[in-house]
Amino acid sequence: MAALLEIDRLTVTFGGASPVLDGVSLGIAEGEVLALVGESGSGKSMTALSIMRLLPEGARMDAAAVRLGETDLVAASEGQMNSVRGGQASMLFQQPKRALDPTATVGSQIGEPLRKHLGMSRSAARRRVVELLHDVGVDEPERRARSYPHQLSGGLAQRVMIAAAMAAQPRLLIADEPTTALDVTVEAQILALIAQKKAELGMSVLFISHDLGVVASIADRIAVMYAGRIVEQGPTAEILDAPSHPYTQALILCSSLRPDESGELYVIPDGAGLERVSSGGCRFQSRCHRAVEAHVEHHCASREPELVAAPGGTSGHDTRCWAASTMRESA
Ligand SMILES: Nc1ncnc2c1ncn2[C@@H]1O[C@H](COP(=O)(O)OP(=O)(O)O)[C@@H](O)[C@H]1O
Ligand SMILES: [Mg+2]
Repeated sequence: MAALLEIDRLTVTFGGASPVLDGVSLGIAEGEVLALVGESGSGKSMTALSIMRLLPEGARMDAAAVRLGETDLVAASEGQMNSVRGGQASMLFQQPKRALDPTATVGSQIGEPLRKHLGMSRSAARRRVVELLHDVGVDEPERRARSYPHQLSGGLAQRVMIAAAMAAQPRLLIADEPTTALDVTVEAQILALIAQKKAELGMSVLFISHDLGVVASIADRIAVMYAGRIVEQGPTAEILDAPSHPYTQALILCSSLRPDESGELYVIPDGAGLERVSSGGCRFQSRCHRAVEAHVEHHCASREPELVAAPGGTSGHDTRCWAASTMRESA
């Protein structure tokens, strides 16, 4: 199936510093949910913002291609991007209350994409806003449409963001840690709502999280990012059951999937070591214990591994680790 979203060798740099994204390639098929997972600072939000062309000032973006359907997002004019944002592609953020305009009612913010992208009249948009709020599970939608963001709880604000994001029936939803600021009960409700909307609209989703536990139920595929690189990707079940990269294994240990006996979450050592200044070797090597066991330290220190088919994996399961093949053979 042709990809709806195609990102080919995306690099983002701030000034003369080493890139925060370094040759990232991703594809998302029609109706597919791809989870992008990695620690804070690994480059997940920069990937999302590159697609929307909303990178912070000072960022330079280079890519062989970033394409959404027929639209070339690298070459698109600012005017074209304005019709993509909130039209073909919508975004959810971690802090919905901050993403909403504090000076405008909920109704006018959900109504805006209806008027802008679908050309609805003010009165038609007003009616549709109430339906949309009802569809995302908001009680008393007529009254809520007249509320201001500060009157909403975090969970309600995220429902409002989802209603606004769905208004113009996008082909792609980018959800950047949409449940990280919510408590677990509300998180489960919001995840279920996103899954339901995805099923109803048949849209594709790029779901970003630092927690593999959160994406396990919603993702068709998972891509793991470390220090601006994709280090592993593949079908969800295979990534969770047979992770190939030591970083993915560590992420599983510290996800909500696997608290230890004491209920504590595992923490990957040396969190500050997200090494961007590459010595030429593997970026994860200073935090990795596998190199020694696999007797490949010399490779790990001198050359960065390519992202290649994971030994023993199914098609589409790729990994970036020198030890992966050695460990598999000796397993
Ligand atoms: N405005 C900026 N100027 C310079 N570096 C930035 C800026 N914004 C983000 N970065 C850097 O880009 C890297 C990736 O950030 P980000 O994509 O936000 O990570 P994530 O979303 O995975 O937590 C981080 O190391 C961060 O320090
Ligand atoms: Mg982020």
